[in-house]
Amino acid sequence: MLTIDLKGKVALVLGGSRGIGGAITKTLCEAGALTIFTHKGNPKYRDRVETLLNQVSNGGGIAKAKILDARDAAKTTSLVNQIVKEKGKIDILLCNVGQNVARAAEELTDAQWEDGIEITLSTAFYGVRAVLPHMLKAQYGRIILIGSSAVYDGGGGAIDYAAAKSGLTGMMKYLVKNYARKGILTNVIHPCVIDTDLLRERYFDEEKRRQLAGQVPVGRLGKPEEIAGLVAYLVSSWGDFICGQSILVDGGRTLFSGPGG
Ligand SMILES: NC(=O)c1ccc[n+]([C@@H]2O[C@H](COP(=O)([O-])OP(=O)(O)OC[C@H]3O[C@@H](n4cnc5c(N)ncnc54)[C@H](OP(=O)(O)O)[C@@H]3O)[C@@H](O)[C@H]2O)c1
Repeated sequence: MLTIDLKGKVALVLGGSRGIGGAITKTLCEAGALTIFTHKGNPKYRDRVETLLNQVSNGGGIAKAKILDARDAAKTTSLVNQIVKEKGKIDILLCNVGQNVARAAEELTDAQWEDGIEITLSTAFYGVRAVLPHMLKAQYGRIILIGSSAVYDGGGGAIDYAAAKSGLTGMMKYLVKNYARKGILTNVIHPCVIDTDLLRERYFDEEKRRQLAGQVPVGRLGKPEEIAGLVAYLVSSWGDFICGQSILVDGGRTLFSGPGG
C-alpha cells in the first residue's frame, strides 16, 4: 500500500483554520505531522477551529491552533522561534493567507492596494523569512506557497490579488535558486474554483456557483482536500525531487474553459 508518511515532521500552516488551509492542516496531521496552524481568531469562525481540532484529534493526529494576524511580521517571527524552541524544528511551511476583494483597478485606493499586497504577498515573505534560518541550520525544509490561477489568466477580479499572487511565483523561483542546494525545496500550488468561504463570498448564490462549475471541464468545483492531497505529496519523500514548480489545480478551467473545453 502506498502511504504518505510525515511522522516526526513539524509543520506550520499560516491561515490554516478553514477552507484550503483547514484541509491542509487536517491532511498533514493525518499523514503524521505535528501541525501548528494560525488564524485571525474571528469569533464568527470559532466553531470551525474547534471542529478542526476535534477532527484531527479523533483521527489520532496533533494540531495546535494559534491566533496570529499573518500581517504581523514580528509576531510571525516570534511564533516560528517559539515552535522551534519547543519542538526543535520546522520542516514544513505553508503560506496560505490571501485576500481577494473584487473591484475595478481604476477605483482601487492606495490603501486598498497596499492592504491586498500585504495580505497576499508580504505575509508569505514574513513566514519564509522567519523559517529560513532554522531550515538552513537543519539543511532541510519544504515550503509551499498557495498562489492562484489568476497568475495565468488575470482572473479573480482584483489587480492587487493577481499582482500579489504573481509575486509568489517570483518568490518561489528565488527560493529554489538560492536554497534548493541547501535542502530547502519550494513549490507554488495555484488553486482555482475550490469550494470554500472565499469562493462563496464572491459566488454567493447556488445558481452562480452552478454556472461557475459549468466552466470547468471536469464539471464541478474543486474540494479543499484536492489541494491538501497535493501538498502532502509534495512535502513528503515522494516530493524530494520536485521543486520550482507552479502547479495548477483547477479541473482544467484555466486553460481549457472555452467552448468544447
Ligand atoms: N478558493 C479558491 O477557489 C481559491 C482560488 C485561488 C486561490 N485561492 C487561495 O487559496 C488560499 C486559501 O483560500 P480559501 O478559499 O481557503 O480562503 P478562506 O476560505 O477565506 O480561508 C482563509 C483562511 O486563511 C485565514 N486567514 C485569512 N487572513 C488571515 C490573516 N491575516 N492571518 C492569519 N490567517 C488568516 C483564515 O482564518 P480565519 O478563520 O481566522 O479568518 C482562514 O483559515 C488563499 O490564499 C486564496 O487566495 C483560493
